[in-house]
Amino acid sequence: MIIDLRSDTLTKPTESMLAAMWAAEVGDDVFGEDPTVNALEQKLAGMFGMEAGLFCPSGTMTNQIAIRLHTSLQTEVICHKYSHIYLYEGGGIMSNSHASVKLLDGPYGKISPQDILDSINPDDVHAPETTLVSLENTMNKGGGSIYTLEEIKPIKAICEQHGLKLHLDGARFFNAWVETGESLKDWGAMFNTISVCLSKGLGCPVGSVLLGSMTDIKRARKVRKAFGGGMRQAGFLAAAAI
Ligand SMILES: Cc1ncc(COP(=O)(O)O)c(C=O)c1O
Repeated sequence: MIIDLRSDTLTKPTESMLAAMWAAEVGDDVFGEDPTVNALEQKLAGMFGMEAGLFCPSGTMTNQIAIRLHTSLQTEVICHKYSHIYLYEGGGIMSNSHASVKLLDGPYGKISPQDILDSINPDDVHAPETTLVSLENTMNKGGGSIYTLEEIKPIKAICEQHGLKLHLDGARFFNAWVETGESLKDWGAMFNTISVCLSKGLGCPVGSVLLGSMTDIKRARKVRKAFGGGMRQAGFLAAAAI
């Protein structure tokens, strides 16, 4: 047996996943009529206590849709300089959302509440308006480091005080969850949007889900269409995740 440690994305579906995919009930998800996709979206949203979910082809797409939701022209995103959204998403913050980025430093890819506070732009004609803070958990380029809920709470408080949205790139959130065992619903309550990947530590062939409010996910569905991410009988993929 070859053990390939280049990435956790190299996994192949298990027998039970393949059986679930084979047996999946499907419909056209662009019409919102794929029962298996709907079930996956509802299942994950329920686990995190969030209102709705949106199944997408990749974690890059769920992150980029979230950034589009929470920014507009002449606005700015705060994130760590090693963030996936900045380093590895093809410059999508700029090309998809036309937003500016403020990059912060910090050990193990994590950013502190004080540094976030100090990085919020003043209401000044020279500065883009800060609208979004994006965190990553686990933090890939931070060596798989973990934020605990206690570390998120002061960041959430700053975002609320300053009218900022808070997004979580949780591509490998379940790795952090296995380690901390913290309540998923408590985590869901911290963020406006959460992206979780199914094709990494969870071993599914394809897919990520964006979680958020009904209003945000309704808008996200429209952005997904424009990004070319509307899939038809996607229930075959969602079945593997369920
Ligand atoms: C932290 C993090 N976020 C997002 C992504 C993007 O996921 P995808 O490859 O599905 O676009 C990755 C991919 O490895 C990642 O490591």
